Amino acid sequence: MATAQGVEAQRVEAGNRRIKVKAIAGSCGAEISGVDLRHIDDETFAEIYDAWLEHLVVFFRDQTLTPEEQITFAKRFGEIHHHPFIKGMEDYPDILEIIKEEGDTRAFGETWHTDQMFNPKPAKATILYAKETPDAGGDTMFANMYQAYDTLSEPMKAMIGGVKTWNVGSRKKLSETDKHGSVSEGRYKGNEKMAAKVRDPGELVTEAAHPLVRTHPETKRRALYLGNHAIGLHGFKDAEARPVLDYLKTHAIHPEFICRFRWEVGSMAIWDNRCTMHRALNDYPGKRRRMHRITIAGDTPF
Ligand code: SIN
Repeated sequence: MATAQGVEAQRVEAGNRRIKVKAIAGSCGAEISGVDLRHIDDETFAEIYDAWLEHLVVFFRDQTLTPEEQITFAKRFGEIHHHPFIKGMEDYPDILEIIKEEGDTRAFGETWHTDQMFNPKPAKATILYAKETPDAGGDTMFANMYQAYDTLSEPMKAMIGGVKTWNVGSRKKLSETDKHGSVSEGRYKGNEKMAAKVRDPGELVTEAAHPLVRTHPETKRRALYLGNHAIGLHGFKDAEARPVLDYLKTHAIHPEFICRFRWEVGSMAIWDNRCTMHRALNDYPGKRRRMHRITIAGDTPF
C-alpha cells in the first residue's frame, strides 16, 4: 500500500512542478512552499487545489498579501461568503478580522466546529491569514473527518447512515449558559472586539438539518459532518441524540485524526470545511492575536 510520503513523492514527480508539498502529520495537513500567493498562474493554483483536496488543510509561510490580494486569491476557490452575525472589516467586508486582545479571556472559534454548519449551504473553504501572533500559543488544530468516519464500526456506520443533525447558529433568546455555543447573548463575552462586531442576521436562516455522514462533492469520500453547532438529531428524542452526538464528537477528535499548526506572522491556512473540524487554542493569556479570515460559499451537503 502506498504511504503518504510515497504518494507525495509520486505527485512531485508526476505533477507538482511548481510547488513543494510536505505533510505535517499522519492524519491531515501539509505545508506548501515555493510559492508567492500574490503571483500564481492557473497551473500553480491547480497544484495547490489538488494538494488541498488530498491533505484537507494546507499551510503557507512568509506570505505578504494586502487585503485586496488575499481577496483576489480567495476568489479562485469560489464565491466569498459573509458571516451572517459578524461584520466584516469596514474597508473590506469580505474579510472578517479575528482579534483577541491582551485582556480578553475568550478566543473566537475555541470549540471544535466546522464553519457555517448552521447555514443551509455551509462554507466550502476558509482562508485564514496571520497578521499578529503571540510568541507562543494560539495554534489551530484540525481533525480529519474522513478518518473519523472510516474508523467507526460497521454497525455504527449503518445506524447513522441516513440520520440528519440539527444545527443552530443563532437563537437570540438562549441564555448565556447555552452550552452548545450558539450565538446567544454572552457568546462573545470575554472578547469585546468580537462582541462589538455581532450583528442581527435579520431574515437569514441560521438553523439547518444536514446529513451526519456527508459525501464530499469533489473527492466523493464519506466524512462525519459534525461540530459545536450540531445540537440534535432529526427525529430523535433529546435523551437519545445526546449520547450519540457526545460519542461521535469525542471519537472525531482522537489524537491520531488531528494535526496542529503553529502560526507566525505571514502564515496562511486554507481548510476544507466539508471534511474537517477545527479549533483555535485559547492558551495565550495576556497576548494579542489578529487574523484575517475569508470564507468561501459552499453547496447543500448530501
Ligand atoms: C476560526 O474558527 O475560524 C478561527 C480559527 C483560528 O483563529 O485559529
